[in-house]
Amino acid sequence: MKRRHLLLGLGAAGLGAAAWLKPSDLGAPYSNAFSTLNQMLRSQGAGKPQLLIDLDALDHNIAALKQILKPQATLRLVEKSLPSLDLLAYIRERTGSNALMSFHWPFLRQSAERFAQSDILLGKPMPAQACAQFYQRPLRSAFNPEQQLTWLIDTPERLQEYLAIAQAHSTKLRIAIELDVGLHRGGVRDLQQLTALLTIFQAHPQHLALTGLMGYDAHVGKVPSLISTREQSYQQACALYRQAIDQIQQHAPSQLAQQPIFNGAGSPTIALHRDNSPCNDLSAGSCLLLPSDFDLATLQGFKPAAFIAAPILKTLPHTEIPGLERLAGGLAAWDPQWQQAHFIYGGHWLADPWQPQGVTANPLYGHSSNQMLYNASKRSALAVNDHVFLRPRQSESVLLQFGDLLAVRNGQIVAQWPVLSENA
Ligand SMILES: Cc1ncc(COP(=O)(O)O)c(C=O)c1O
Repeated sequence: MKRRHLLLGLGAAGLGAAAWLKPSDLGAPYSNAFSTLNQMLRSQGAGKPQLLIDLDALDHNIAALKQILKPQATLRLVEKSLPSLDLLAYIRERTGSNALMSFHWPFLRQSAERFAQSDILLGKPMPAQACAQFYQRPLRSAFNPEQQLTWLIDTPERLQEYLAIAQAHSTKLRIAIELDVGLHRGGVRDLQQLTALLTIFQAHPQHLALTGLMGYDAHVGKVPSLISTREQSYQQACALYRQAIDQIQQHAPSQLAQQPIFNGAGSPTIALHRDNSPCNDLSAGSCLLLPSDFDLATLQGFKPAAFIAAPILKTLPHTEIPGLERLAGGLAAWDPQWQQAHFIYGGHWLADPWQPQGVTANPLYGHSSNQMLYNASKRSALAVNDHVFLRPRQSESVLLQFGDLLAVRNGQIVAQWPVLSENA
């Protein structure tokens, strides 16, 4: 009798635990906005995965960025994170920013040709070959590198290589020094290294102009707070930056440009750079499209503005895993998300399902760049030729994979924007 009670008790507890563990149905139909987009793409889409830029969300993010930008600081748009000249033009017009940060010489050429009045700072120290390559062919625009372009330098060796290029082309290169303000991705780490660079500038004023400094602080807010709080690592980065400015002002004041560029920040930290920041020039790009890696406390007011729309090629009323076909019914009964299988056109991007709600990648089936399987419950109501909308985790490489970007507003395509090209 006691044994039977025990078994019944255990059975009931097991059922209770199973009910508790059983995944609930997360599926839902498209939101209104994505339902409209889906209908529009069903009739006007290109029949392939496409990248949408939601202009209303982008406008919202431009306003949010203006709100957090340190007054008087130059906003420098990060070209690699917004890799389309038309997208950049749209944002330049609405922010009034004329400054760009470039990371790739084919992109640099295209930006310098389209935005002939812009001021461009390199965001990484390019191999001297890239610098030489840039000067080999004249630009098809009035952009004047001697006044508008600043290269980035991290070591005396690289500075010597750039000096040789300046001498060979009888030109003067504008150069900023990369500072390591705690990220440890390179750049000058101490005042001795800085002095070694300043000495080279002082010896070659006809070929090298010191434009300023660049210190990227992406580590701020990412160090575990037990080791250093966001505020502490931000303050440390600022202190290192100030020391470097003081050192230049003491040892090579005449070398420094009249209006120096003291660049810093990026989307994750731009909100922190207020009056207490030593920087007068602040970079941001990704926050304007808010891919999911940028869901950060410092960017709370921003909205996702870029989405992949991938057509569904096949919809099956079950998910069969090769070798486990017999489990198909059981798996769908256990987890409502397995009720339907949707094979999309393409896949395996740095992106996660966004709309309709409850679409999930299958953990057993594996990834495919050709026809990726996504699961969803019947409540998602997806069918062949509908679209799965995915939210990129980052913008830079993802935006380059779909041909022209589709700029959409109120569910309609209002422009098609080519992306930057490798061939420039
Ligand atoms: C030097 C530098 N500045 C700024 C940024 C910030 O770019 P975003 O605002 O797109 O994150 C980056 C990103 O890689 C960077 O390398």
